[in-house]
Amino acid sequence: MSNVSRAPRRALRASPSPARLAAAIAAAIALVAAYTTAAAAPSSGPAAAGAGLAEMPAGSPRLLTEPFLQRPERSSVRVVWLTNFPGVLHEVIVGDRVQRLAPATTERMQRMLEDASSRSPATEGLGLAEVVARPVWRHEAVVSGLLPNRRVPYRVRSVAADGSVHESGVYTLQPLPTRGQPLKILLTSDQQNRYGFPAAMQKVEQMFGPLDAVLLAGDYVDNPRQASEWFDRFDPAWRNTPGAPGTRPFPNARPAFFPSLQGTYDRLFPEFPWRGGAILQHAPKFGAIGNHEQPGRYRPNARVAVNSGTQTANIGYMDNDPQPRWYAEMRYEDLKAQVNPSGDPAVREQWIRDHSHDWEVHRQLWTHPEGPEGEQYYVQRIGDVAIAVMNVSRIWRTFNVRPQDRGKFTEFVAENRNPDEWGFGDFHFERFDRDSPQFRWLRETLASPLFRGAKYRIVVAHHTVAGLGDNAMPVHADNVMHLDYTDESGAAKTRVVRMPGDSAGRAAVFRAEVLPLLDRVTRVRYEYPLSEDIWKHDIEPLLVDARVQLVHIGHSHVYSRVVGRDAPGLTYLETSSAGNTFGAFWTQPDGTPWRGALRGGGTGLFAPDSPWDKANYPRTDDPFGRQPVYPTLANPMQLWAGEPQPVPFVSSNDISTFSILDTGMGAVRSFAIDLRNPQAEPIEFDRFHLDTGRGPRR
Ligand SMILES: [Fe+2]
Ligand SMILES: [Fe+2]
Repeated sequence: MSNVSRAPRRALRASPSPARLAAAIAAAIALVAAYTTAAAAPSSGPAAAGAGLAEMPAGSPRLLTEPFLQRPERSSVRVVWLTNFPGVLHEVIVGDRVQRLAPATTERMQRMLEDASSRSPATEGLGLAEVVARPVWRHEAVVSGLLPNRRVPYRVRSVAADGSVHESGVYTLQPLPTRGQPLKILLTSDQQNRYGFPAAMQKVEQMFGPLDAVLLAGDYVDNPRQASEWFDRFDPAWRNTPGAPGTRPFPNARPAFFPSLQGTYDRLFPEFPWRGGAILQHAPKFGAIGNHEQPGRYRPNARVAVNSGTQTANIGYMDNDPQPRWYAEMRYEDLKAQVNPSGDPAVREQWIRDHSHDWEVHRQLWTHPEGPEGEQYYVQRIGDVAIAVMNVSRIWRTFNVRPQDRGKFTEFVAENRNPDEWGFGDFHFERFDRDSPQFRWLRETLASPLFRGAKYRIVVAHHTVAGLGDNAMPVHADNVMHLDYTDESGAAKTRVVRMPGDSAGRAAVFRAEVLPLLDRVTRVRYEYPLSEDIWKHDIEPLLVDARVQLVHIGHSHVYSRVVGRDAPGLTYLETSSAGNTFGAFWTQPDGTPWRGALRGGGTGLFAPDSPWDKANYPRTDDPFGRQPVYPTLANPMQLWAGEPQPVPFVSSNDISTFSILDTGMGAVRSFAIDLRNPQAEPIEFDRFHLDTGRGPRR
């Protein structure tokens, strides 16, 4: 379940006169001490916001975001915004001539941090030497009594303890659209402070106006605990590199999330040619959990002895330091007498999260629909569109296999005997194999009237489960541990350790098969067998049976569209190309790899004598031969990236793309922008229709 406290469903009340508002503010300020204490107080337990951390100054009161919409229902929608103060009054003002008010509930955001790597007006001059807590409050109101398919203007107002009043701009809201209503839905992902996002979002706003929904396939920011990545990342030094003529202006810019998707980047960086787009104010966002939503072990400012050296656990280090939850649960059993002598279940849960990974910022920031395991995965109907949002994300680690690498395929050799510093390869954060709760939920969801009855059936998942992207390899198998060791006679041997899916079973196998060998281990390796790809073998057949037309993915930072011969009517679309790419890996018609690019680069994984089964790791193309589709209307790589021939993808740091599902047309339309030319308009380069001729199989 989500720990977001829900705003009470109250009827909207009439707007007060200015005099009544002033009186209300005065009364509220009189209560400020008690209110502030209550609102600012961290929730009990070790999850507290600033527990053990110094707190940076909040700065003078201001809105940290414009309002954004969440969780529309038949006659209501939620409005959320964030401030750097707890305040005494927070409300939504709805309507035009006749105004009504919807009160908000307020809570402090947990684990909003900054450190020496932060670049923001809020941290400038603080000289941060270590991780500190940043004060951020979240406000959420339910606006109810709305009529379908009718937009109503709204704005939000927050009053600080000093009496200052902070109002947003005016935007529009609506409840869930009804069936038959033509919709425009943005398909995007992987903002991660990438350069091209403000340009793409600005053009979306200009060309399509208020959208009906946004589907975001994960990777919102790089480090969700780093507050400035959401609100106000900016470094004045970016101005010193304006960029050469014919290249991207201010190439060092790394725009924050909300300024990009709310059209406010000009407040931070007025010289930058794009201010972003007012997208989230008008359209509810539905999102999947990506690898970047799940930062790793929480031990801020700890000195960590690892890999024959010492590291300080700053925000970036913690982000890339998860361990699997089953391992943390196993360690908890060993240590519980010390860490939780009273056996408090909340302490246990927090200890396990702090020693594995969590998605607390994501959970607290957004108010998504909920499935059996909260917001991890859920289903939503939006007019004629049904979306099933999955969590198939896994930690991303390096392809390198040197002794000093803790990557997809190896552990640090120096830590062979110390599993407390193992990474366990690219492990999945959440199960979706056929014995998992998520798989059962998906099967039931796809068979439900709500999903089957929808004209458009879409699955949203973060990870590159198909296509030409960098991360299409290794495939989504649960990795198989291989322990290379020396036996008592000195002979080199390998033990293959097969883990069951459940946590207790994994711990049992680890204790029985791995721990006794640790003194003899020479290498810990992982394989990801092609034949055990969970997505291909377990998930895809369900989608084909349910006549899912579109799987919306991200993660490899390319535009790539593929179809499978054995998956009729099903298109995979990766929409994560917003001016930052991790490459495309495609065998050209002449049989050579595009630009010589091979997945895994020059790593030792592919050395002739490497012990890995190289057949598992296709270096180009879709791992299962799904066919890439050429853009239908134009080829941005030919136009702007020097390609002599058309190619079936967009993979360039100079090109930002965005995609719109237009249900009035029954099509997905994709547009591209040349980031080297801020005056240029986008071109529509790809359009494909979703097959609505066949319903789900009976
Ligand atoms: Fe990702
Ligand atoms: Fe990403």
